[in-house]
Amino acid sequence: MHITPLQRDFVGEVSAIDISIPLTHDQVAAIEAGMDRYAVLVFPDQPLTDEQQCDYSRNFGELEATLIGQMTKPSERRLGPVEIGDISNLDPSGRLRERDDNRRMYALGNRLWHSDASFRATGAGYSLLSARVVPGHGGNTEFADMRAAYDALDAATKAQIEDLITEHSIAFSRGELGFDDYGEGNADKVRPVRHRLVRTHPVTGRKSLYLSAHIGTIVGWPMPEARAFIRDLTEHATQPRFTHAHQWRVNDLVMWDNRTTMHRARRYRDLQEVRDLHRTSIKGTAMTAEQGPAMVAE
Ligand code: OGA
Ligand code: MN
Repeated sequence: MHITPLQRDFVGEVSAIDISIPLTHDQVAAIEAGMDRYAVLVFPDQPLTDEQQCDYSRNFGELEATLIGQMTKPSERRLGPVEIGDISNLDPSGRLRERDDNRRMYALGNRLWHSDASFRATGAGYSLLSARVVPGHGGNTEFADMRAAYDALDAATKAQIEDLITEHSIAFSRGELGFDDYGEGNADKVRPVRHRLVRTHPVTGRKSLYLSAHIGTIVGWPMPEARAFIRDLTEHATQPRFTHAHQWRVNDLVMWDNRTTMHRARRYRDLQEVRDLHRTSIKGTAMTAEQGPAMVAE
């Protein structure tokens, strides 16, 4: 296995490995070490079935069921298992979704910079996206390095944010776009959870900003002040020098660490062209909680 840097210490391209078959312990360790160094790894030319994608993903921990999968009736899911996230513009019968399709509008939230499942108590660890059909134009996925963004903050800001606790909910990110139709009985799934704003990586010891469109407030702060501040930090953290755009080719598998990066989807002509990516995510570890309770006035 070989890793070629695409963007220094942030994005690497992995070659000379077949991830559709069982990996050795050493191969898994090498990929994890690559993830710790880079945070985003691109594996070109890896055709995978959903089952192979799940098997490969399980090398890195327990799979997480997607929220939208859990909120969707089995009969309305295009892809069977809830562990396979349907990141496409197709309905269950394989047709392009209409402009005002509820599920399409929900998915537009991916256009905002976010970290997967940060609306859950432990957030996600790695996410893995496998490209099955890609559009002719647009539809890139962009990544931002939250370690480099943290490092570049001035000392006063670092001190100010060190112990801050944020509240995340899917209702905040979707509310930003004016979407609030989650369907019957799903209200409990949008309740806010708390995370530290500054996380320390358990292996590398590097600090990073845990930002996400799902953040709605900072504990102990007036909401408008919190949102204005989070917006400033997000603007800082997503400057071009911290980001990388991935242009999809069929059979790309891209994996990223949600604890140290944010990502967003870019526009494409989704009412005309098919884009079909399948996602798996690994359950997060309690990295935030391991750092102990933060000092906050509530
Ligand atoms: C995701 C996601 C972005 C994209 O799958 O978690 O945010 O470009 N996808 O589709
Ligand atoms: Mn995402």
